[in-house]
Amino acid sequence: MLSTLHWLLLQLPPELAHNLGILALKIYQLLLRLKGKNIPPRGNLRPPFLSSFSIKEMGNRIGLAAGFDKDAEAFLGLSMMGFGFIEVGTVTPLPQEGNPKPRLWRVPSGGLINQMGFNNCGVTQFKKNLKKNRPYCSIPILANIGKNKDTPNDKALDDYDILFKELSTEVDGFVVNLSSPNTEGLRALQTVSFLEKLELIAPKKPIWIKLAPDLETQFLTELFIKIKNSHVFSGCVLTNTSKAIALNDYGKTEGGYSGEKLFQRSLQCVRLCREMFQSEKTIIAVGGIHSLLQAQQMRDAGADLIEVYTGFVYHGPQLIKDLQAGLPIIRD
Ligand SMILES: Cc1cc2nc3c(=O)[nH]c(=O)nc-3n(C[C@H](O)[C@H](O)[C@H](O)COP(=O)(O)O)c2cc1C
Repeated sequence: MLSTLHWLLLQLPPELAHNLGILALKIYQLLLRLKGKNIPPRGNLRPPFLSSFSIKEMGNRIGLAAGFDKDAEAFLGLSMMGFGFIEVGTVTPLPQEGNPKPRLWRVPSGGLINQMGFNNCGVTQFKKNLKKNRPYCSIPILANIGKNKDTPNDKALDDYDILFKELSTEVDGFVVNLSSPNTEGLRALQTVSFLEKLELIAPKKPIWIKLAPDLETQFLTELFIKIKNSHVFSGCVLTNTSKAIALNDYGKTEGGYSGEKLFQRSLQCVRLCREMFQSEKTIIAVGGIHSLLQAQQMRDAGADLIEVYTGFVYHGPQLIKDLQAGLPIIRD
């Protein structure tokens, strides 16, 4: 039944398929809540999340990457598919429509190019959505946060400040998105000096910094060293989509590529990051992971946790089962 639904969705235009998938998950969630069973109330299931992060808090090592549940409206249904944690968002302070459609394309082989532009409901509605379902959700939820399109870079810190303040009591941790290629100027915030400013406003929560695969090694190294030496940041999410692959392999001057072709570059970034971090901090690897072998390669390169997006789109819930079976649940 699930695999037939998944197959049908893949025959439709990608954004329509996505929206129908989210709708189906919302109906499923409603049924779960009405039935009221099989969902252990949060809090009874696990201890409160620690301000100093430990990966033992995660249900398992496999997470859903940001951008799938942008408005935090389907994570309860998604959590029933076996994810150990879920990133919701990217959320911005004010609601945004995002770029004009079409803005999401399937490309060969096993890839997507998206130019969504942080379409989201804004933090007020996002918070309401979290409040509705989070009490029933037994896995950690991380909020991926970004600045509004109209916020100039010299005011970007104010946006992150609003989001930290609004969401600190609602989520288990944050991912600061400085790397989406679809918000003009955002990637210019991937600097040591911006990270230093973020440290001053950060709440006492686990916080990861999400970086782009297109950064040069020298810049990546500087950022990794800064994050390693920070008392505030828990680590990195590596990586976001690639503008370079979208351009070089598909001739797309706008948007970012995700999927199989991103894997090698994301793997390199994870390896370099682990070299810099040594045994400290937590690396969340994401980018082109479509199989257990690739997930294991990421683990061998130094990733603590694994996230998927495009692989989940193409392979459906079975991929989560396969990864979960191969990368066992975290125990003491
Ligand atoms: C349609 C789409 C929307 C995305 N939206 C976001 C987003 O809002 N915030 C973010 O940090 N990453 C976003 N991403 C990037 C993913 O979280 C992930 O970093 C990237 O797709 C690489 O992983 P993958 O190859 O497994 O898809 C998006 C990706 C796609 C395909």
